[in-house]
Amino acid sequence: MSQAKMDKTRRNLIGATAAVGAAAGAGAAVPFVWSWWPSERAKAAGAPVEVDLSRMEPGELKIIEWRGKPVWVFRRTREMLDSLKVTAQLTDPASSASAQPDYAKNETRALKPEYMVMEGLCTHLGCSPQLKGADAKAEMGGDWAGGFYCPCHGSKFDYAGRVFKGAPAPLNLPVPPHTYLSEGTILIGEDPKGA
Ligand code: FES
Repeated sequence: MSQAKMDKTRRNLIGATAAVGAAAGAGAAVPFVWSWWPSERAKAAGAPVEVDLSRMEPGELKIIEWRGKPVWVFRRTREMLDSLKVTAQLTDPASSASAQPDYAKNETRALKPEYMVMEGLCTHLGCSPQLKGADAKAEMGGDWAGGFYCPCHGSKFDYAGRVFKGAPAPLNLPVPPHTYLSEGTILIGEDPKGA
């Protein structure tokens, strides 16, 4: 494959944005956004990456690259947050065995409930799970209230990246260090001051 084609494929995997539910419409894709794509120098250094939240719609997922991994920033709706209260089917509902900073070890796995930050790699064998809304219940079965689905071997995760029982993935999706620089800007790769 030519370098140009490889670059295009890579851009289609990382640096995308998608949305589900709320304003953008169920399952609707919105145009790719590249403004938070880190420079080559920043990537090489593993530098923290800023993400602009100001124009994110409820239900929208942004994918950025940090240290060679896709990191999701996901704006949750009230309904999505309410769905996190149902935990009986989860493998690690309190995230006791899963990877996240202490400040994200709570019911919503977030510093601010509205915005979820997590690594977009399945904890089974590293495939990329897909966002699936509550409207995918017929396809997903059971009590599906929306979340993420890994197409490789069928692991399901809720809107906080917590894995459902019976899935091959053993743990919840990891939460990377992150902090808020302002109301509308999040920094991936750095803990809050004093944390
Ligand atoms: S890699 Fe996700 S279920 Fe196997």
